[in-house]
Amino acid sequence: MRLVSMQGTSEPNNVLADLPVVLEASSAPLVQALKSTAEQDVACFHFPGHNRGKAAPNLSNLTGPGAFLHDLPELPELDDLFSPKGAILDAQAEAAKLFGASETWFLVGGTTCGIQASIMATCCPGDVLILPRNAHISATSGLVLSGAVPKYILPEYNSCWDIAAGIRPSQVEAAIKELEDVGKTAAAVLITSPTYHGICSNLNEITKVCHSRCIPVIVDEAHGAHFGFHPNFPSTALEQGADLAVQSTHKVLSSLTQSSMLHMSGNLIDTERISKCLQMLQSSSPSYLLLASLDSARAQLGKNPDAIFCDAVNLSLETRKEIGTTAGVSLLDLSSFLSGFTAIDPLRITLGVSQLHISGYIADEVLWEGHRIIPELVGSSSLTFVINLGTSRKDIQRLILGVKNLSRNFFNGNKIKSDVWNGVRAPATYSSMQLSPRDAFFAKKRRVNIRESVGEICGELICPYPPGIPVLIPGEVITEEALSYLLRVLRMGAAIRGAADHQLSSILVCRI
Ligand SMILES: Cc1ncc(COP(=O)(O)O)c(C=O)c1O
Repeated sequence: MRLVSMQGTSEPNNVLADLPVVLEASSAPLVQALKSTAEQDVACFHFPGHNRGKAAPNLSNLTGPGAFLHDLPELPELDDLFSPKGAILDAQAEAAKLFGASETWFLVGGTTCGIQASIMATCCPGDVLILPRNAHISATSGLVLSGAVPKYILPEYNSCWDIAAGIRPSQVEAAIKELEDVGKTAAAVLITSPTYHGICSNLNEITKVCHSRCIPVIVDEAHGAHFGFHPNFPSTALEQGADLAVQSTHKVLSSLTQSSMLHMSGNLIDTERISKCLQMLQSSSPSYLLLASLDSARAQLGKNPDAIFCDAVNLSLETRKEIGTTAGVSLLDLSSFLSGFTAIDPLRITLGVSQLHISGYIADEVLWEGHRIIPELVGSSSLTFVINLGTSRKDIQRLILGVKNLSRNFFNGNKIKSDVWNGVRAPATYSSMQLSPRDAFFAKKRRVNIRESVGEICGELICPYPPGIPVLIPGEVITEEALSYLLRVLRMGAAIRGAADHQLSSILVCRI
């Protein structure tokens, strides 16, 4: 790698001079380093081969030249993600300060790689990880990578909404005690909080239960990166004692897709091991656009941390008020679940449409066809909309109008008992685990007809969506009960995720 002087030239050789840079130089060290590096008058003989856009005219025309000019490799003045000493170190330190962490890592592989690294850093092969049955798929791959063995907790499930909620402290305590009864200790506990629908578990109590036994708590906070920035928002995972919190900065904040942050607190986690795991899981050519977008998102929040979300919160309140009084639609809130969940994200609006006698999928189509409205998530009986820093009053008015039109066109005054799955309950207990997810992943597989699969060891993750709770996980014995549930929800329109054969006429099993 070239050794360079840190000086740029006084005459920029590109259009950057004309680009407005809204952040002060000192407020975003990595953004600033990227800007001044791109402004240098240089002859480039390095990667990437698009050569600052000159070799990629098609996409460069579409995105504008700025994206390519700043898509730079690990030049000395841009620091090194895996051994940071300069701009990345400073940018991560600024982020740690703002998010209340003792250390923060920038991630270019999304929260996915942060969850995987957190599991690998806390669990060795054979160790037990306690986690919700509906944890994101990255937790399952974390189990495969680490060799840890899962102990699942079943989240509360509301069959009218067809939505799963969080995990209660008493469930975590019971899982720990069950392990203790057989002479085992959990290596870590992983909690998803908030859920995709914004439901928050009581992390305060969960971390107390775990820390009294020195068990570290990893929080999948993919959907909660904004929580520290408005009094109406739920408390953050770190404020509630989490040891590791992984946030998809790109989901609600303003960084680029795939960019996330991993925050650490307390002294239960080995910092070096986290760094090593992240280096193992991420590209050795991390994108500086992604990294700088994290620095930029942090600087944007840091400028005005107490008020930045005020407009978004007000717009969300307004939307809830209007939609809440619309005939035939309902809003998901904490009363939709038994007690035990502490908060729900005010920026996540989940609209129930079953009283309109239509599914979430039909409502989605109608809103698209009539109003060009795109929700974040579509469920069997609901739609979820996300309000963020870019949401305008015009967008909100369009949403409210769209929902009112839905009501006008579909509500006939007849209330139905809205249990979309007609009493189909997910299995109360799940199949026994015969192989760890890791052993099942590496086992030789064969494909069998679904009717002949009972008693075999499942070789793939099979998860009906909705509700997104996996019914079979690699290594579990396939039971009659699991199969009949899967076939019933498939007939009712659920999509089967994870299985190679989406129609489930066959299933991959382990050959042992
Ligand atoms: C709960 C949860 N955790 C983790 C992830 C993975 O996040 P990312 O897309 O940043 O890798 C997602 C993605 O949707 C998610 O919903």
